[in-house]
Amino acid sequence: MTPARPARPHLRFTDDGRRMREVLSYSRRGSRFTPSQQAAWDEHHQAWVIPDDVVDDPAFDLTNWFGRSAPLIVEIGSGVGEATAALAASRPAYDVLALEVWRPGMASTLERLAAVGVDNVRLCGVDAVWFLEHLVPADGLAQLWTFFPDPWPKTRHHKRRLVTPAFAALAASRLAVDAEWRLATDWADYAEQMVEVLDTEPLLEGGPVERWVERPVTKFERKGLAAGRSITDLCYRRVSR
Ligand SMILES: C[S@@+](CC[C@H](N)C(=O)[O-])C[C@H]1O[C@@H](n2cnc3c(N)ncnc32)[C@H](O)[C@@H]1O
Repeated sequence: MTPARPARPHLRFTDDGRRMREVLSYSRRGSRFTPSQQAAWDEHHQAWVIPDDVVDDPAFDLTNWFGRSAPLIVEIGSGVGEATAALAASRPAYDVLALEVWRPGMASTLERLAAVGVDNVRLCGVDAVWFLEHLVPADGLAQLWTFFPDPWPKTRHHKRRLVTPAFAALAASRLAVDAEWRLATDWADYAEQMVEVLDTEPLLEGGPVERWVERPVTKFERKGLAAGRSITDLCYRRVSR
């Protein structure tokens, strides 16, 4: 039997100290903070960060971490939090959970959240696939955002792309009926893969849309545009069974 995917596969080591080999949708980047990231982390992590290890508690309850019960939006791979801060600020009635395994990105997000002054966001550094599978109930999401997921452009790395049929089925099952999954990518062949995968998922309906005007231009979007790539926005809606 395949062992269940762990919450923190990026932190797993073998008994003799080597990195555990896992197919991850992200790369294991450095975790060193810049001085301003360190300052933001020290000042704000207690207010906004859900520590990785608390998700192991069988009694873990997300509403306790938000301090209220509100419709939940999840962002997968929030990076440095550009979209998170702006979109959360205009949705005070929603709780926004940003899942990002790259700790310097989480720290930069804290800087942005503090600048904008939002209180409806929490960050967590565990694997988003694991989180959705284990901690988000069926029909539990009011919206899902996936902006510029790691493109894994080499063919031999395509298996690491987040948007696969298995993940699409999981994500669709977590969306409430009528809730939207918003995606964006600057890689044309990944956009095609997303459309192919999401069109095939029976619980989803949708496709490419005009650029979502509310979505701020993020670091990865800027990089893609500077390299001459065009951006595809997608919007899929959960349909009833
Ligand atoms: C290419 S960056 C895009 C960041 C941001 N959305 C933007 O537009 O600038 C993708 C991010 O997703 C994160 N990521 C990828 N797979 C993830 C997963 N399974 N769980 C949590 N974070 C993930 C990576 O660490 C990375 O920071």
